[in-house]
Amino acid sequence: MNYHNFYQQSILTRGKFWGRKAAKIAWYKAPKTVLTLDKKGYYKWYEDGVLNTCYLAVDRHVKEGMGDHDALIYDSPVTNTIRKYTYDEVLDRVSKIAGALVSLGVQKGDTVIIYMPMVPDAAFSMLACARIGAVHSVVFGGFAPHELAIRIDDAKPKVIISASCGIEFEKIIPYKPLLDQALKEATFKPDACMIYQRHMLKADMKKGFDHDYEEIVSKSAPAACVKVKATDPLYILYTSGTTGKPKGIVRDNGGHAVAMQFSMDYVYNVHKGEVFWAASDVGWVVGHSYIVYAPLIAGCTTVFFEGKPVRTPDPGTFWRAIEQHKVNIFFTAPTAFRAIRKEDPNADLLKKYDISSLRTIFVAGERCDPPTLRWLQEITGKPIIDHWWQTETGWSIVANMMGVEQFPVKEGSATKPVSGFEVEILDEAGEKLGPNHEGYVCVKLPLPPGCLPTLWNDDERFEDSYMDKFPGYYLTGDGGYIDPDGYVFIMGRIDDVINVSGHRLSTGEMEEIVSGHEAIAECAVIGIEDELTGQKPLGLIVLKDNAEQSSEGIEKDLVALVRAKVGAVASFKTVVTVKRLPKTRSGKILRKTMRMIADDKSFQVPSTIDDPAILEEIKEILVSHKIGLVSKKQF
Ligand code: COA
Ligand code: AMP
Repeated sequence: MNYHNFYQQSILTRGKFWGRKAAKIAWYKAPKTVLTLDKKGYYKWYEDGVLNTCYLAVDRHVKEGMGDHDALIYDSPVTNTIRKYTYDEVLDRVSKIAGALVSLGVQKGDTVIIYMPMVPDAAFSMLACARIGAVHSVVFGGFAPHELAIRIDDAKPKVIISASCGIEFEKIIPYKPLLDQALKEATFKPDACMIYQRHMLKADMKKGFDHDYEEIVSKSAPAACVKVKATDPLYILYTSGTTGKPKGIVRDNGGHAVAMQFSMDYVYNVHKGEVFWAASDVGWVVGHSYIVYAPLIAGCTTVFFEGKPVRTPDPGTFWRAIEQHKVNIFFTAPTAFRAIRKEDPNADLLKKYDISSLRTIFVAGERCDPPTLRWLQEITGKPIIDHWWQTETGWSIVANMMGVEQFPVKEGSATKPVSGFEVEILDEAGEKLGPNHEGYVCVKLPLPPGCLPTLWNDDERFEDSYMDKFPGYYLTGDGGYIDPDGYVFIMGRIDDVINVSGHRLSTGEMEEIVSGHEAIAECAVIGIEDELTGQKPLGLIVLKDNAEQSSEGIEKDLVALVRAKVGAVASFKTVVTVKRLPKTRSGKILRKTMRMIADDKSFQVPSTIDDPAILEEIKEILVSHKIGLVSKKQF
């Protein structure tokens, strides 16, 4: 297939193209309209279509004779478990979980929060919500109670589904006390909780409010699929913005289902009956799209992995599972491969396994750095495909579309725009930039199916964050350029969002927490480069003159405070005290300049700087504390 023609059709004959793609999924009522614009000026996909996403992902395959085919393989090196679930079994389980939710009063349109570790019931609970038209919001297990509380207050869930504990390497993390604390902090109170009790740690239950998950599910009558409109919300997934309040990304049912099926066909080139493995977590968008919905909608077997790339038990764990489950397509974050490479640089463990089933490895979550790309190409001999996307879009904006036409890989580029995404680079004035000129990476409206229609209960923030800067365009928040061959290079965020081990975090939020400490006069949190995690947060603090504690004591306090408020996943471990922060004459802290100093990159001293000597002071402090790439330089 010719990429250029295929891509052009998706833009120039949008209605026809996406109308045909919609025919690949099963609808209760097939849509007559493909794309409409509402009174608010928001685009809607397949507005008059009626469907059910759980039906597509589960029931449909059972109906079509795939009931005894594996739908999900739970591979958990941390509990020494491998358990396969057929489509029949998934249907049975999901229908009963849906029944349990109904028995607790959950109806179409209600919200349900899922705060669970990587147990298959996390996926089944998501599908159960979809089945009855309830809107799920999965909260990543690594977030602290405060983060969960913010999401409870915003999503207002009727029911929360959680578990007694998660397992991080050899550590057991009790989830229930975190949930209880979040419920104490939140203003909104759900009607009930369903707690999945794991045998390694049982949670204390509140009578009449906490329900034993297994008990209520086993007692419940199966619930049938409920018809929903294509534009009804399937889920909310909160992601980091630039402030302490995360953004509730909304996903619809119809556009999402079409996009999931389309991406399996044309981006991943994987088909019914094949094995697809995205090694991520259901708490992230990768988990939503490519552990749960897309592989099941496409009739694949999804591998559901509860472990890490290393130390569970060793850096050969991915290769072992690929051989054991005959994985065809594998997808994870580059940071996971950097962790493997650090421990097994010659890939000795890979030699023990037969990975011949594997066709392609996809990476995303952060830019794939060339050394990792080369290493992977060398050790596996497989195509390594970097693709760029975001929670907001739910699927890739730029990729090498393996089901259309495979292009040679260029290091540092995610290749070309995916069908439906008109990617352009704009300058500050909104003018389109030519090849090789770096600027704001934007997507001309309308976005293709599957992307966010708005933010949960917050149209104003949706417009302000994404639509207002350049009218007619969606602002991705990333900077980058397109080369003369049409390859897109994403160079990093243009806002206060950082990427630590493939996890998206807000430095703005960390700053809000740090500045709340009584001893802090002012502060900045910036993301600096890190060989293993991609980026890591660094706090720079200026103490009040009357601060009573030592600076070391305050630095330790702040690390503990951010961990308690955001969670361990923030990886906020480095804080340094400085005498002053560099600012413009109008008082704006020069965060980008400090980042460039820490990363040892060349930069222009801003002409608006108040006192350039502060930059030298910052550099000296970083070097003396051995922080950042700058400290590794030979002076
Ligand atoms: N529940 C509770 N705590 C969690 C958690 C969870 N689900 N996930 C992470 N954490 C904790 C970790 O235990 C760690 O705590 P610590 O500071 O006490 O050690 C902290 O959060 C940071 O975790 P992480 O950044 O994941 O570091 P790690 O050392 O545990 O693992 C990697 C490093 C590279 C193996 C891991 O980050 C990884 O697999 N990353 C890939 C991410 C990914 O899939 N992203 C999705 C895009 S594809
Ligand atoms: P998330 O919403 O958590 O998926 O994070 C999205 C952000 O991660 C993007 O806006 C990018 O900054 C970054 N990102 C994800 N994938 C890539 C990639 N392949 N190349 C470069 N940056 C990426």
